[in-house]
Amino acid sequence: MEKIDNIDWANLPFGYISTDYNVRCYYRNGAWGEIEVCSEETIPLHMAATCLHYGQEAFEGQKAFRCPDGKIRMFRIEENAARMQSTSRGILMPEVPTELFVEMAKRVVKLNERFLPPYESGASLYLRPLLIGTGPQVGVRPAEEYLFLIFVTPVGPYFKGGFATNNYLITREFDRAAPLGTGCFKVGGNYAAGMRANHVAHEKGYACEFYLDAKEKKYIDECGAANFFGIKNNTYVTPASSSILPSITNKSLMQIAEDLGLKVERRPIPVEELATFEEAGACGTAAVISPIGKIVDDETNIEYVFSKDGRPGPISEQLYTRFRNIQYGIEPDTHGWMTVFE
Ligand code: PLP
Ligand code: COI
Repeated sequence: MEKIDNIDWANLPFGYISTDYNVRCYYRNGAWGEIEVCSEETIPLHMAATCLHYGQEAFEGQKAFRCPDGKIRMFRIEENAARMQSTSRGILMPEVPTELFVEMAKRVVKLNERFLPPYESGASLYLRPLLIGTGPQVGVRPAEEYLFLIFVTPVGPYFKGGFATNNYLITREFDRAAPLGTGCFKVGGNYAAGMRANHVAHEKGYACEFYLDAKEKKYIDECGAANFFGIKNNTYVTPASSSILPSITNKSLMQIAEDLGLKVERRPIPVEELATFEEAGACGTAAVISPIGKIVDDETNIEYVFSKDGRPGPISEQLYTRFRNIQYGIEPDTHGWMTVFE
């Protein structure tokens, strides 16, 4: 068991730390069973399980926070349930009902309450729901048995600099996902497909890779494992594409942008349009917004620069502040996004 006194809350990485419990539920004979509370970190698994051979695997990510009013809040967990259901339909796994998903999320947060980082640390408790095909198959077909589990781990910022800018490298050498493939689902295979591009970007000194659409290489897809947005003329612009993950953070930022009086456009964004944005950011659960310093195209030698001094732009800052304040119960949750633990 992790000694809580040894955790340096203010300097937590985005990594795995053991907690006390995870929660599990098995799907057998066409039905979900009872919720099981488990202190074991490993999974007994059949060597012919479909998750190991044929990628029947889906995961989610969400966060819970210790707030200044002393309460614990969890962000838009029903949206994670809905996205995992969409992923299940995408790779022929049974859907975890929203009620079961939310119940398990609440249970696992409560059970590991002592691992919720203090508000002042800026860290949070990351929830990682996981659904895997556990039944054996040798032919390529869906399993008959599945395991759904949620574990939690306290995390710090995804990027070391926190809310500071990062630089991205456009990749044309590798695709993350095809237009009619699995890019819109949260399956592990997409991340395996992106590892080489990420490695090359790191080798060349960039924080992350930047994907264009796989078919024509004309439009913007994603910033590594995050959605892209650009700001210009008081407008929040984000890509419409069949191969990107529908980000819950992005969906929420679009709403906040509207609330703040910005226009919102979701449409294909030609790569050259990058030159016209006043600000740009990557968005996702891990970082909320990770402002982009520059995006470099080393094939055309064009650099799209959004920030020269490493500081985020004013609208990104405003969006970020409103978002975090809602998560921490500092500003009113007018859209009913938060689950509050009493
Ligand atoms: N895109 C990809 C590929 C991701 O893995 C994630 C992370 O979950 C996102 C976007 C951001 O999605 P969300 O805001 O729901 O975390
Ligand atoms: C995010 O939460 O923004 C992510 O991209 C999750 C990542 C660790 C898979």
